[in-house]
Amino acid sequence: MDSIKIRGGHGLNGTVPISGAKNSALKLMVATILTDEPLVLTRMPDLADTRFLTTLLQHFGAEISRDGNRMQLHTPRLENAEAPYDLVRKMRASFNVLGPLLARNGEARVSLPGGCAIGARPVDLHLKALEALGAEIELAEGYVEAKAPKGLTGGAVTFPFVSVGATEHAILAAVLAKGETTLENAAREPEIVDLADCLTSMGARIEGAGSATITITGVDRLNGATHAVVPDRIETGTYALAVATAGGDVLLEDAVWKHNEALWDRLGHAGVIAAWAEGGIRIRSENGRLAATDIETRPYPGFPTDEQAQFMAAMCVADGRSVIRETIFENRFMHAPELMRMGAQIDLRGNEAIVTGVETLRGAQVMATDLRASVSLVIAGLVAAGETTIGRVYHLDRGFEGLEAKLAACGADIERVKE
Ligand code: EPZ
Repeated sequence: MDSIKIRGGHGLNGTVPISGAKNSALKLMVATILTDEPLVLTRMPDLADTRFLTTLLQHFGAEISRDGNRMQLHTPRLENAEAPYDLVRKMRASFNVLGPLLARNGEARVSLPGGCAIGARPVDLHLKALEALGAEIELAEGYVEAKAPKGLTGGAVTFPFVSVGATEHAILAAVLAKGETTLENAAREPEIVDLADCLTSMGARIEGAGSATITITGVDRLNGATHAVVPDRIETGTYALAVATAGGDVLLEDAVWKHNEALWDRLGHAGVIAAWAEGGIRIRSENGRLAATDIETRPYPGFPTDEQAQFMAAMCVADGRSVIRETIFENRFMHAPELMRMGAQIDLRGNEAIVTGVETLRGAQVMATDLRASVSLVIAGLVAAGETTIGRVYHLDRGFEGLEAKLAACGADIERVKE
């Protein structure tokens, strides 16, 4: 298994091109199931997760080709409407094929995704939304068996709490349903807006994406389209936090200011200058230690759970004590014990981590546990004295395109060790 070695203590200076958003790309790819015409996605990141979803979509009969960051997906005929356990368990986002398969085929069978390292992550809201659209759902042998013999019909869905995946799933199913669907308490993440924009250019009728109420008027068919994946706000936040922690001056090319306002606010408090610049966002951290700053994760536009681990790494070397509260997932502090192996002082109390900043972290051998946790260890490694080796790098490969190259181009001493 590959590992990453970092020798800390180098500031970051230069430019980091921000890739297309993984969490948007995965849902956009699924939209190929909804049309028999080609869908072209540009600014498409090349990640383990996008490659994995390619395999799953090919299993349904999609023809997928890639040229640099341009991907073409074409599903002229659906050859299969069953997603087996082996193809779903590795990536939860695969579950979002259920609604589109049902819309196109009238029935589908998709394995339940199961839990994952960051929490139980059930799919009850996804299933309730599909039922509101007229799907008949049964659970058997770990699979969801769904039928809509007369097609899906518009319905009213009120989510009891915000779910990104369930909102996206409901949109993907409702675009071809007969009549009008309303989603209340919908997620407002930029990835939802991106999905709605892409589907709209395919001929769907969607209003209100980006607000808590989304209205979808079903259409008979969708056509092909060309769509550019939105720049990755989590990758943006990750590099911003890397610069904040290691020090330096970096332009995050193509980054979108308004997609990370909660982070800019907190970084400002910590003493980092984040400013809109020609072509992206410029991050400067040149005044020594950061000031300890608290965060609480919230659905968008609040502070993203996917940047919590990286923020914690920054706070490990800040001046003072910060409280980090995780409210989205119940088990998302697995990076804390690894950071402690590097000398961080973290006290875990339920969904709160109390971090007392230290002057220096020390390089150590650490283990990645999930995607965002792994990159927090990279950030800690950039500022730690000596060498840090991060194992289980496949977690990083799921969601960060060209991580080592992007950091090395800004002066980090980082390399991948192949085994
Ligand atoms: C998406 O997951 C992202 N994944 C996650 O990113 C991200 O952390 C999360 O949204 C929150 O922003 C993708 O887009 C592929 P949710 P999702 O449904 O859609 C509970 C990463 O590192 N819930 O908004 O699965 C759930 O357990 C990943 O890139 C139910 O109880 O998240 C969680 O506590 C990790 N029942 C909360 O809701 C349901 O049916 C929010 O989850 C659905 C969710």
